[in-house]
Amino acid sequence: MKTVVVAISGGIAAYKSAEIVSRLKKTGVNVHCIMTKNACEFVAPLTFETLSNNPVITDMFNRESPWEVEHISLAKKADVFVIAPATANVIGKLAHGVADDMLTTTAMAVTSKILIAPAMNVAMYKSDAVKENIATLKKRGYHFIGPERGLQACGDNDIGRMSEPVDIVGKVKELLDMSNILEGKKIIVTAGPTVEKIDPVRYITNHSSGKMGYAIAEAAFDAGAEVTLVTGPTNIMPPNGVLVIKIKSTKQMYDAVSDEFAYCDALIAAAAPADFKPKITHDQKIKKDKGEYTLELSGNPDVALDMGIKKTNQKIIIFAAESENVIENAKSKLKKKNADMIVANDITQKGAGFAGDTNIASIIKKDGTVQSLDIMSKKELSGIIIEELSNLFKDS
Ligand SMILES: Cc1cc2nc3c(=O)[nH]c(=O)nc-3n(C[C@H](O)[C@H](O)[C@H](O)COP(=O)(O)O)c2cc1C
Repeated sequence: MKTVVVAISGGIAAYKSAEIVSRLKKTGVNVHCIMTKNACEFVAPLTFETLSNNPVITDMFNRESPWEVEHISLAKKADVFVIAPATANVIGKLAHGVADDMLTTTAMAVTSKILIAPAMNVAMYKSDAVKENIATLKKRGYHFIGPERGLQACGDNDIGRMSEPVDIVGKVKELLDMSNILEGKKIIVTAGPTVEKIDPVRYITNHSSGKMGYAIAEAAFDAGAEVTLVTGPTNIMPPNGVLVIKIKSTKQMYDAVSDEFAYCDALIAAAAPADFKPKITHDQKIKKDKGEYTLELSGNPDVALDMGIKKTNQKIIIFAAESENVIENAKSKLKKKNADMIVANDITQKGAGFAGDTNIASIIKKDGTVQSLDIMSKKELSGIIIEELSNLFKDS
């Protein structure tokens, strides 16, 4: 998993950095935040701690983690170090080798790419000092984004506004080599439950909310793929830009995926299609005065299994919701369905499985490697799955 350090200095745009952290987390990267003392005057560290799910470093001499020299360990971890907003003060310190707080000390120890998003009043930005300092840092290979023109907090309408969070995150992804990693690929994602009719008022279904599949479809689209989402009934809005095929029964999901699969590069099967359907579907409501009614079930077609049999050079990622022997069962499912990767979760664990916003997953590949992940949001997990899918394409 990639690590991005977001460093926040004391400018009015500091509040916008919360969105940078939130967006980065959704792409599946690990985020650590450093704040200058002055940045803490604008936004509370708790905001960044909550969004990044990591402690925020504000103090050089914090003795809570004495076993590691914090600025060096963070500098080593960073795949990209982004300073947003970067004040005139921080830019000046970096240009002149000043390391008198955690942000500047860590930045000096970073060997990976550093991205600076300056934000300041137009007069400060146009000052000789800032111009020369930026030129010095550019010569040293620092990357810059912005500032932009627009209305500033001080009332001036000119250059100096920090670039928009979405653009800063786009630039970070570019520096991480993560942008458009699925460009040119056609992906089918299945999501949600299926519904099997018993009679005009009753049906069989399951607890799948569709959240995992929808998050994956969104992440695949954001990574540049053309995405078809085949979805059972859910209560969530489909992501923009994605072709949505709504189905009800497992047979309908099977038919929709079969029609599309030959034209696709990958299938990510995140749906929970019902394995069984009533043997007989009644046109009229079954009367309760019968007192007793035995429901006979028959098996449904297996979407992932049959696509696995048909696949040529396509990739298939499947899910396993297990309640016991999770890794063992997932490994045998991976093999049986001729898939390339399986995302397994133990639905009995708190924070994993169907309806919630989080998941606790293990990613198992064909070579038998198991990567056990901590609890994370379904959006974060989808970012990791998309990165793994792009690695599968690279490896083949
Ligand atoms: C309300 C307010 C807003 C500020 N906004 C900015 C700003 O957008 N950019 C900037 O370079 N400095 C700004 N400053 C000045 C910095 O906070 C000041 O230079 C400080 O020393 C920066 O500390 P730091 O770089 O260690 O965070 C602002 C100050 C105040 C009081």
